[in-house]
Amino acid sequence: MEIIIPAVIAHGGAGPGPNRQENLEVAVQKAANILKSGGNALEAAVEACVILEDDPVFNAGTGSVIRTDGSVLTDASIQIGDGRVGFVIAMEDTPNPIRVAADLLDEEINGLTSEGARIWADNRGHQRSKVAGRSPEGQIGDINTEIMGDTVGVIARDSSGMIVVATSTGGCSFRPPGRVGDVPLPGSGFWAEDCLAVAATGIGEAITRALLSNKVYERIKNEEVSLEDSMEWGIRTLISPEHSVGLIALGSTGAGIGVANTDMPWATWEAESNG
Ligand code: GLY
Repeated sequence: MEIIIPAVIAHGGAGPGPNRQENLEVAVQKAANILKSGGNALEAAVEACVILEDDPVFNAGTGSVIRTDGSVLTDASIQIGDGRVGFVIAMEDTPNPIRVAADLLDEEINGLTSEGARIWADNRGHQRSKVAGRSPEGQIGDINTEIMGDTVGVIARDSSGMIVVATSTGGCSFRPPGRVGDVPLPGSGFWAEDCLAVAATGIGEAITRALLSNKVYERIKNEEVSLEDSMEWGIRTLISPEHSVGLIALGSTGAGIGVANTDMPWATWEAESNG
């Protein structure tokens, strides 16, 4: 029987921002601890994503950027290699949209948006609390940064071969309240199928036009090109260089890897093959 080695990879957003590598590693460690203690990939991906949503250095959850009308709206998505998917769009007062997205995985519907999403989350008992957010110029505590279209993303693989991709964002700076980015759109900001998953970060419009995560997934899967080469191909050929974009990917074996045309903190962990 093939032994599948648990692994995780996460990124902290493509584009300018504070040095957030150490913050990201906390989330990867959380996922690693869950996987090491026998937890599954779903739990590992969600709990790591919650750590990133709760850390104001990232443009997701608590640290989400403010839209042009002053609102703070959060998006999140989750997909399992077995085809289950959940996503939420433009949620108000929702610091952990990934938990709401995960709650959709076993529902008849896949996705919810804005007020309807919030009402559904209230009925399920998901936390409702004000998200202060930050202006594009960036002020939370002493953090001062220019935020663009960054996102957080986690991919986890467990010993059963289950692979899960989770992404979350406050959207893109200088965008209006009804705008939809790549994060909640299957194939654009994320794609997981069988035991291979890809997640994107950066300017959502460029990622969506390229259907970037799915295109890179298909290239790895069908053309048997390495994760790194496929992601480099996707960014080089499908994304115009003025758009900051990054990708992470994880397959059925080996460690995950990240590629970006700009700064993108990413970190990875893989269990020892001898346990
Ligand atoms: N990548 C996040 C966004 O554009 O909404």
